[in-house]
Amino acid sequence: MRVLSGIQPTGPFHWGNYFGAIRQYIELQDVASESYYFIANLHALTTVRDPKLLQQYTLNGALDLLALGLNPEKAVLFVQSDVPEVSELCWLLMTGTPMGLLERCVSYKDKLAKGLKADAGLFTYPVLQAADILAYDADVVPVGEDQLQHIEVCRDIAGSFNHAFGETFVMPKGKVLDQSAKVPGTDGEKMSKSYGNTLAVFDEEKKQRKQIMRIVTDSRPMDEAKEPDGDVLFDLLKLVAGDDEIAEMAAMYRRGGFGYGDVKKALANAAESYWGEVRARRAELAARPDDVRDILSEGAKRARVKAAATLARAQAACGLKGY
Ligand code: ADP
Ligand code: TRP
Repeated sequence: MRVLSGIQPTGPFHWGNYFGAIRQYIELQDVASESYYFIANLHALTTVRDPKLLQQYTLNGALDLLALGLNPEKAVLFVQSDVPEVSELCWLLMTGTPMGLLERCVSYKDKLAKGLKADAGLFTYPVLQAADILAYDADVVPVGEDQLQHIEVCRDIAGSFNHAFGETFVMPKGKVLDQSAKVPGTDGEKMSKSYGNTLAVFDEEKKQRKQIMRIVTDSRPMDEAKEPDGDVLFDLLKLVAGDDEIAEMAAMYRRGGFGYGDVKKALANAAESYWGEVRARRAELAARPDDVRDILSEGAKRARVKAAATLARAQAACGLKGY
């Protein structure tokens, strides 16, 4: 199994990103025969238009993934734009991609529906994503449900290229991540950057504690019992606390006679034990950014070998070589 996924660097990761996606990507590095993870800075360029910010987000994205357990000995970690073969492959794939296929893609459709102007980069975004996947002969692509459409587009594009020019690309499969338990944000709605209700994974302890203390709760009287599941504090606690603490807290909810202030304190403490170590590891990595850049450039070197071979195969198949 060859696994590949890209992560857009568009700002600090929050708990929802970690539990809903990143943790699951990282776990695959242990079961895959090969795995490729990249920071999708070319895709981010469709929204991040500040060069300093894009540089910062790109390096930070790599730091975050390494601190969270991505192991460069097991997986190839690189920055998307460091493999120019992918952009070249993207052009090959664009010829032969029907306009209608891209017009149906939600990322583009949503923007138009909101009355915003879309550029050609956003319109062809799914073709670049297809090139990302096909360049590395990936057969499994772990993604959130929102990205499944792009995997289907990739399969369509690969299928029609193979049909026109002979078997060239490996047909990838999307692997939907388990996002059944949506991580709630500080207002009880789904945690999301766009709602401003996030708890960032790498915020320092004090800031995180403050944000936890401000989580909106219901106005249940202290002596009233309550079903723990579905309560925002309990649902967050379940992610970061140990089994015994979760069981004790569930029993306390069902007994009643407790205040949310105490649950918030327990949550802040559990969060600190959960994130403390990765935060320290991140700080340690952040102090030696050149080592991180070395990891990325080593990753890009390995990725380029693979992508160059696929590109050569595709170029030969469609008549760009051998004239
Ligand atoms: P945001 O909603 O903050 O913009 P993204 O859309 O960039 O987050 O999400 C990146 C990944 O994290 C996706 O796979 C997405 O499904 C997952 N994710 C984001 N928020 C949550 C959440 N609250 N619960 C579970 N998974 C989430
Ligand atoms: N579009 C993906 C997202 O926004 C990121 C991405 C880019 C990607 N290229 C990819 C994901 C290739 C999987 C495979 O999350």
